[in-house]
Amino acid sequence: MTSEAGIGQTGKEQWRMVDEGWGRRAVEFAALCEPSNVREYVAMHQRLGVGTGDRLLDIACGSGLALELAGIRGARCAGLDASPRLIAVAKDRNPDADLRVGDMNALPWEDDSFSVVTSFRGIWGTTPQAVEETLRVLLPGGRVGLTVWGHIKVSPGAWAMAPFTLATEEKVQNQADMVALGRPGAGETLLSEIGFTEVERIEVPFVFEFADPEAYARGLAATGPAFEAIQTVGEEAFIEAAVEVARQQVRDGLPIRAQIALVGYLATKPTRPLARSTADRAAEVQSVSFLAPPPPTHEVQRLFDADLNGVGYVMNMSLLWAHLPSALDRLAGLLSEATEAGSLSTAQRSVLITAAASELGDSYCSLAWGTKLAAATSPEVAAAVIQGDPSGLEGIDQALARWARLVATEPNAVTAEDVQAMRDAGFDDSQIFAITAFVAFRLAFSTVNDALGALPDHELDASTPEQVRHAITFGRPPATSDVENRTGKPDAVR
Ligand SMILES: C[S@@+](CC[C@H](N)C(=O)[O-])C[C@H]1O[C@@H](n2cnc3c(N)ncnc32)[C@H](O)[C@@H]1O
Repeated sequence: MTSEAGIGQTGKEQWRMVDEGWGRRAVEFAALCEPSNVREYVAMHQRLGVGTGDRLLDIACGSGLALELAGIRGARCAGLDASPRLIAVAKDRNPDADLRVGDMNALPWEDDSFSVVTSFRGIWGTTPQAVEETLRVLLPGGRVGLTVWGHIKVSPGAWAMAPFTLATEEKVQNQADMVALGRPGAGETLLSEIGFTEVERIEVPFVFEFADPEAYARGLAATGPAFEAIQTVGEEAFIEAAVEVARQQVRDGLPIRAQIALVGYLATKPTRPLARSTADRAAEVQSVSFLAPPPPTHEVQRLFDADLNGVGYVMNMSLLWAHLPSALDRLAGLLSEATEAGSLSTAQRSVLITAAASELGDSYCSLAWGTKLAAATSPEVAAAVIQGDPSGLEGIDQALARWARLVATEPNAVTAEDVQAMRDAGFDDSQIFAITAFVAFRLAFSTVNDALGALPDHELDASTPEQVRHAITFGRPPATSDVENRTGKPDAVR
């Protein structure tokens, strides 16, 4: 691999030279060239179902427009590019994303870090190691979406790539080797050999669109392959050649448009065989709720893996929500939105949930959040809140506990005076709305769990403080570790 401009470098440390070509006109690339790629980004995000709950990595993210669009869809984003100057623009566009300068052949993230990885014309036939790295950093069941150029020569917009061939023969040959991954079968073979499953080849829309030949020439000159041509013929000659080729494409009253074939590959990282505990729990599901377990898709495995990584076991409620994991993701998104809008601390959320769940008679959430409330206050205070006495809490938290119970009991019985009591406690009207929405979303969650018979996990029950356990005299009984003895009947337990 010989490309000094660093397009698709594979050699050790060669990636550090990428910025010379790709970074030298980073601002122009970001503002003039990259916007044309939106069709490609939107189409791929749509096919991958990118949304809230996804942790997404974009490899060779350039100046980060694709990441900005993924963030708008609700994903938490990370990105990597070899060019520090492009990453600087990406950071400006995505201040909350985890953006790093580095080599795609040695990704600086742990194994199993992302639910989605994308790369838009960033991973090529000359960079198979980056595909291995992609597999490594994806969670089992995670999805990848890559794009590579298709059959450029037969594309209606092939003319728009012609100025790149002003580079030396060796560099033009290297560019051809890179795009070989777009040939029929090439990507499918590479992805399957590296260990991906469900490999699919799709057509992805791609159109260069520019106002006039000069704008096209300026945008094109900001790219890495253009730099290779410029090294050979000089910038002036490159721009002249580009303007000349584009002049023939000018249409009255319309932008210059060059449609180019782009191939997309979708694939999935295989899920591990269900962990023994997961399989056991799935088999037990009829004892721990009223529904049979859904088939173990990668979405389901992702839900279970999150539990295994978080609490160390698959929760009975997750076995239930495995019937619609995307709804659980969205509900979690709504709860975070309300948390942020209400400026609610974890302790305040534990007051709201414990009070609302115990008012509803939901033993599961009362155990889980009563334990958190006990940690934030004391087991005595938490037990009293569960039994309807918030007097052990600070004034503002007492107001929250009372409000949660009012909302859970009979929303139509709430009066203007009740709302005023919340204002008097220090909440403004926007916070009161957010707090009410938070409680309502939690009640929706509890209602599904309770109506479908989700038994509190015996692990949760075992780790709950005694006083809190004894205060929960309602709802469904915790599952026992001996599932054979579980009845799942909606009797009060204690
Ligand atoms: C064709 S551009 C695609 C950029 C972006 N994905 C887009 O859609 O505009 C290729 C990108 O790969 C980056 N790149 C090249 N070699 C790299 C490497 N070894 N590691 C990380 N990024 C690399 C370049 O800096 C450039 O941003």
